[in-house]
Amino acid sequence: MPPIFVTSSGTGIGKTYVSAMLTRELKARAIKPLVSGLDEETFPGSDPAQLLAAMGEPVTYENAGLVSRWRFRAALSPDMAAKREGRAIDFDELVEECVAAASRHDPLVIEGVGGLMVPLDERHTVLDWMKALKAETDLAPLLVVGAYLGTISHTLTSLAVMRAENIAPRVIVVSEREPGPVPVGETAAVIARFAGRIPVRVAPRGKTVSLADLF
Ligand SMILES: Nc1ncnc2c1ncn2[C@@H]1O[C@H](COP(=O)(O)OP(=O)(O)OP(=O)(O)O)[C@@H](O)[C@H]1O
Ligand SMILES: [Mg+2]
Repeated sequence: MPPIFVTSSGTGIGKTYVSAMLTRELKARAIKPLVSGLDEETFPGSDPAQLLAAMGEPVTYENAGLVSRWRFRAALSPDMAAKREGRAIDFDELVEECVAAASRHDPLVIEGVGGLMVPLDERHTVLDWMKALKAETDLAPLLVVGAYLGTISHTLTSLAVMRAENIAPRVIVVSEREPGPVPVGETAAVIARFAGRIPVRVAPRGKTVSLADLF
């Protein structure tokens, strides 16, 4: 199975929700190499904690490094959070770490960070990270988008950028973080009209859906 890279149209959309769901279904290994806003106090509700739980690993602060090699305290975009600590993310090392994980673990779920275009350092964004991985693996990108009013434009913008870089998503998942004024199925149907052959699935609020057939 290809390594799965979970990205999204923005932050707080549902990447961890979908990554954890997929990790449980596939009995996969999950990593989130870059995490910000993490310290001992925030750990219990953090992304590494949720991914450890999905893997059935002990959810302890000491285990955060199993999921997230680069951990930053400030709840800021990764490059800003790194700078606060006088650190920087070594892009090549980040890519190498993921390629190595993909060669060791099958299935592997990689949760990105923030939205598709969030900067990781002076020059690279999450999109560049995905492109670098695509060059070295058969990466399957999964785009998580929201169900809120306004999501269609955000989704189609993300899709256009990914397509332009030849890194179209394998699937788009509309995650219903909170009920909105537009029924989620209708939103997914509109997105599907513009998505061509890319399947569009819905993750209804609080529900578990199967995505295994897509990979
Ligand atoms: N389908 C869903 N059903 C129920 N809750 C959801 C769903 N999708 C997202 N959420 C909730 O919305 C919040 C944000 O989701 P999540 O943490 O998965 O976002 P994220 O994209 O991983 O954010 P970040 O950019 O911080 O990593 C969480 O509380 C999560 O449980
Ligand atoms: Mg997350």
